[in-house]
Amino acid sequence: MKNIITLIIAALSLAISTHVVAAGPHIIPQPSYMEMASEGTFIINEDTKIVVYDDAWDAAEVFALDMQQYFGSKRPLRCAKRGNGIKVRTDKFVAEEGYELNIQPHEIFITGGSEAGIFYGLQTLRQLVVAYNGVIPCGYIADEPTFAYRGVHFDVSRHFFSVEDVKRYIDILAAHKVNRLHWHLTDDQGWRIEIKAYPELTAKGSMRKETLVGHGLRPEKWDGTPHGGYYTQEEVRDIVAYAAKRSMTIIPEIEMPGHAQAALHALPWLGCNDQIVDVWTTWGVTPEVMCAGKESTYEFLERVLAEVIELFPSELIHIGGDECPKDRWVECEHCQAKIKAEGLESEEELQGYLVARIERFINSKGRKMIGWDEILDGGVTPTATVMSWRGTEGGIYAAERGNDVVMTPMKLCYFNFYQTESREGEGLQIGGHIPFEMVYTWDPYAGFSEEARKHVIGVQCNMWTEYLKDMATVEKMLLPRLAAMAEVQWSANRRDEATIRERMESMRKFYEACGWNCAPYYFDGRK
Ligand code: ACM
Ligand code: ZN
Repeated sequence: MKNIITLIIAALSLAISTHVVAAGPHIIPQPSYMEMASEGTFIINEDTKIVVYDDAWDAAEVFALDMQQYFGSKRPLRCAKRGNGIKVRTDKFVAEEGYELNIQPHEIFITGGSEAGIFYGLQTLRQLVVAYNGVIPCGYIADEPTFAYRGVHFDVSRHFFSVEDVKRYIDILAAHKVNRLHWHLTDDQGWRIEIKAYPELTAKGSMRKETLVGHGLRPEKWDGTPHGGYYTQEEVRDIVAYAAKRSMTIIPEIEMPGHAQAALHALPWLGCNDQIVDVWTTWGVTPEVMCAGKESTYEFLERVLAEVIELFPSELIHIGGDECPKDRWVECEHCQAKIKAEGLESEEELQGYLVARIERFINSKGRKMIGWDEILDGGVTPTATVMSWRGTEGGIYAAERGNDVVMTPMKLCYFNFYQTESREGEGLQIGGHIPFEMVYTWDPYAGFSEEARKHVIGVQCNMWTEYLKDMATVEKMLLPRLAAMAEVQWSANRRDEATIRERMESMRKFYEACGWNCAPYYFDGRK
């Protein structure tokens, strides 16, 4: 309480004693409240410390690293228990992920509702440091997010990205106050996570012989180059901890029962007819899926998920569930026997049975299941969280029934789509067209009733990597559109089309200072 009174007094005295200028600095995502003084600065120098109360060391240490990257060794901000400088603390009267940032000539106070709040306050400060090169104008910012779930997805199956790449991806997300990384770890084209119970998954399933060239228009061509890679459990733990230090939870996705051809290559008994298949070298939807009739499939899935749950503290565990053709199930004696034994009406209901059974397993471990919106098709349980990607209808339907939903409709949220209509200079991408403005003006609540809105826990953009082979390209697809998405996620109700272009010019300089690759199209006025 004392902290908050101090802050209120500080804010009031700032407002009374100095002329207050209306136009604030450019922060993205837009804070809830910002009031800058016309005079007075806090200068970061070689003696500035980050003074840490309440054990918020992670947030402080990450900020110190960010500052080291920006200033080099000239101004080595150190974290300390006492002293003067940037003081960070928590206060339960501040919103859970919110913060107050009070910049005075000799001290900066950041009060977060949690360590996450402090982390976000420091990320705002980081943008100010870059904008003013360490001479920060005095002022007061109070801020909190609109959505609790602010997600970005990363497909590392279609193309593999190194541990360093994934950490860099996390860095970029964290600077935008994203708090969920949805990590797409398995798919037809590669199994990317070590599972001790089934070493074949990575020994055989993490490498494909070659990759389709271009869009595979006839005649189809392949590149003749093997592609693969996977993360050991030790590496996974390291990445999970790296994200946690940045207040980010990683939601692992293990695809089932479709998008599993790499697993079927490693363990042919996972398929209906024990068919021998390659790790897929082509994009799209394959008919080779897990058998939903054999008990051995359920045992496999539970053993895999048990290890995954040990590795990832995330409450939500993603089971995929999308795009599972039922051709093999129609012909499979095991699948048909299961349909009969369980009194199911169709192969669609068989998928519903599999998903519900896996959900019970996940729940038995104290976690919750999330899946793509196809999990609605076979009859969804009341407790599953639904990720609406085929459009908004799935999300609206699920929310009306009382299921939590994450909105990520393909036409607005697939950041592997082109950014301009002409596509000039963009390289070959999968298709589609999502310019910055389209993301920025998106209303994720459109079509939801007042009651159903309560179940929209957040929004997410997705990075599918069929055509993204390296980090430079991934970054160019992510930036600057992630800034637009960050305002939808963090500051949906205070987006401002009148100022976003000007603010994005500052953000572009921030990206440059961080060394991140940002696409030029939006800044060139191309849509
Ligand atoms: C998806 O794009 N298949 C979720
Ligand atoms: Zn089967």
